[in-house]
Order: sequence, then C-alpha cells, then structure tokens
Amino acid sequence: MAKSSEPSTTVWDRFLRLAHWVLAVSVTIALVTGFFGGLPRLWLHLIVGVAALVTLILRLIWGFTGPSSARFISFWPTPRGVLAHLKSEDGRHLGHNPLGALMVFTFLGTIAALAVSGALSLGGVYKIGPFAADGFALGDLAGEAHELLAIAMVALIAAHLGGVIFESLRHRENLARSMVTGNKPSRAGDITPLVRRANIVLTVILALLVLAGGSAGLVGLAKRPIAGMPVATAPLVAEECGACHMAYPASLLPAASWQHLVAGLDDHFGEDASLDADTTAKISQWLSAHAAENADTLPAHAFVTPAPSAVGQITATPGWQALHKDIAPETFKRAPIYTRANCLACHKDAEGGRFSPLALSIPALPTSSPN
Ligand code: HEC
Ligand code: HEC
Repeated sequence: MAKSSEPSTTVWDRFLRLAHWVLAVSVTIALVTGFFGGLPRLWLHLIVGVAALVTLILRLIWGFTGPSSARFISFWPTPRGVLAHLKSEDGRHLGHNPLGALMVFTFLGTIAALAVSGALSLGGVYKIGPFAADGFALGDLAGEAHELLAIAMVALIAAHLGGVIFESLRHRENLARSMVTGNKPSRAGDITPLVRRANIVLTVILALLVLAGGSAGLVGLAKRPIAGMPVATAPLVAEECGACHMAYPASLLPAASWQHLVAGLDDHFGEDASLDADTTAKISQWLSAHAAENADTLPAHAFVTPAPSAVGQITATPGWQALHKDIAPETFKRAPIYTRANCLACHKDAEGGRFSPLALSIPALPTSSPN
C-alpha cells in the first residue's frame, strides 16, 4: 500500500481499468463454464465469450487512441527492455513494465485466438453462428485448438498473478489495488509512459465502425447455405415410426443400421412393429438415403459407428455413450424422461436431427406434491 507520505499519481484510466476487470471476469467465467459447465451451460459460455471479444476489440482501439499508459506505443516491449527488466537493471515502471507488457500482448492475442477457434468450432460442429457453413472437420479441429488455448490461458493467468505479486513485493506497493483505483504512489526515478491525450471522438467513431462492420460481416457469413443438414422426416416414416416414440431422424444412424433395424421390425425391442412389405421397403429405402453418411451434423458423425452387438440402437453406439457418460443412469429412468431413447425429453430439437446444445436441458426433478 502507498505510504501516506508518498504523493500519488493517476496511471490507469477508467476505461482501461474497466476493460481489465471485464476481461478478468468474463475470461474466468468462460474457463469455468468451458471446463466444468457441460453443454447445458454453453449459452453462458457464449455470452461471456462475446463480452470478452467486444471488450478486446475496444481495448485494441484504445491502445491507439487512449491516454498515456493505455497506448501500445508507450509500452511496446523490446527484447532489450525485457532483458533489462529480467536482470532488474531498470527502475520502477509507472505503466506496464516490459515483461508485463509482453503479458498484455500475449493475453490479447490468446483471447483473439480463443474467440476465432470458438466461433469456428461452434459453426462446424454445432452449425450455429457465422461459421455454420464451414464443415464438421474444420470445426472439430478448431475445437481442439480452442481447448489447448484455454489450457494456455490458465497458465498465462497463473503467470500474470505471479508477476503481480512479485512486482508488488519488489516495489512495496499493491498493484492489484492500483488497477482498481487507477492510482500509484509516484517516486523519484520512476519510468513514466510517454504523455498522450485520449482522443474520445476518434475512439467512438472507430469503435462504431469496427463493431458495425464486424457484425455485418458475421451476419453475412451466417447467411451462407449449410451443407449436410438433416432433412425433414418423410410423412410416411413420421407416421409409421412415430407411433410409439418420436420418429428418429434418419441422420442418427448409418444406412446399414437402418436396413438391419427395418428388416427385424417383427421383433423390435420386444414389440411387434411389423408393416406390409411395400411400406417396409419404402421406409428402409428412405432412411438409408438420408442416413448418417449423408449428414454433417455432430450426431451423424458421432453415431455413424454402430455397436456390433446392437446394430440399430442409437443409444448403444460408442458415440452416444461417450456423449452421455456424465449423466447418472437414474436420471434417464425418472419422470418425465423414462428411457435413454426419449431424446426429446432433453433435446427440444431432436425431431429435426440438429441437436443444438442451445436446445438442450435436462428436465428438473418434478416437485413433490403435498398429497
Ligand atoms: C409398436 C411400437 C413401435 C413402433 C411402431 C416403432 N418402434 Fe422403434 N422402438 C419401440 C420401442 C418400445 C423401443 C425401445 C425404446 C427404449 O429403449 O426405451 C424402440 C426403439 C427404437 C430405436 C432405438 C432407440 C435407441 O435406444 O437408440 C430405434 C432407432 C427405433 N425404435 C426406430 C424405429 C423405426 C425406424 C420405426 C419405424 C419403422 C419404429 N422404431 C417403429 C417401439 C416401436
Ligand atoms: C436425460 C436427458 C437426455 C436424453 C434423454 C438424451 N440426451 Fe443427449 N445429451 C444430454 C446432455 C446433458 C448432453 C450434454 C452432455 C455434456 O455436457 O457434454 C447431451 C449431448 C448430446 C449430444 C451432443 C451435444 C449436442 O448438443 O449435439 C447429442 C448429439 C445427443 N446428446 C444426442 C442424443 C440422442 C440421439 C438421444 C436419444 C436417443 C439423446 N441424446 C438423449 C442429455 C440427454
């Protein structure tokens, strides 16, 4: 803490502090929901992700238009500066020290990369957002990158906190408090940032241009036609196969599994679901024509490999089992779910074959009635 005898000076402007804390909070929530929240919390992950991205963009603009210690040019790290700081050859920096500056740019770059990889994975894997047209394979790859970047982000945060504690002890001041109040004690020999004035008008104009232009671009990208979407279930199939349970979209199983299943309708999971030969042939043909091999959705990719012992059962596929491994077996048995096969109880869009994580929620336990 600043000793009361020391004069204090404003180092961090209001916007910089606000951006710092919005990023700190949104990135933390994004990490927690990403690693532990599961898909039902994806909506929260997306909200804080977008908040972090918008804050990042504004911070980048502020780096060119803001006041002294916010300007990138006043703390651009040079190898010589970083080395001098590592050897403790430099004095106390009022703004970012060279190592701290390196941290700032690494943070900003990592957040940008997280936003891009996250959006690509959301598009390719779940067919949501600006990159919905960009294919499952790319989305899957971007998802892996997103995860690695998130792990790197945890390491960066640890290094940042370590740096803040180290520098605070070294100069006997509370750097975290300075990021709240904006003030630091000023001392003889401080290295001060170049004096610049903030250009508010330019900041607002640039922010509006970048955010409006960016949004328009993303909306344009989102309008591209999406290949490999599931087709609506044909009326005949919907009628005959939707009598006892929801009519499962054809894209949930490969053609061979459908043929196997339809060939055995007389003993269909303990029921006689047999139909006349003509209808059976038509249904088999339609399901095969629109089977998982022809779709690019996550379930189509996940369920394309059947369990050898239970061909024709979606819930037996290794893909289905892996996706639902964290759900307790009892959950599937309780009202109003009753069976794993009742996809619709948890996936509101199941009949369309999309299975968006944003349409996903496990129904709450029924509240016990007083009687
Ligand atoms: C007479 C009622 C009945 C009809 C008609 C019927 N089914 Fe079923 N189906 C069942 C039952 C019962 C189950 C087992 C559900 C469970 O495991 O809870 C089942 C399960 C399934 C499953 C496996 C779900 C899982 O666990 O992965 C598929 C796929 C399926 N049916 C497809 C079809 C198709 C295709 C048709 C139309 C040709 C059809 N069903 C018609 C009763 C029926
Ligand atoms: C008890 C509710 C419940 C039932 C019933 C259920 N699921 Fe899920 N499913 C979930 C949950 C929860 C997740 C997300 C798990 C996680 O957080 O990773 C999920 C994930 C998925 C995913 C991947 C995520 C996504 O949104 O694309 C697919 C695909 C999927 N389920 C398909 C099915 C199919 C097909 C059925 C029916 C045969 C089914 N599920 C039945 C709860 C359920």
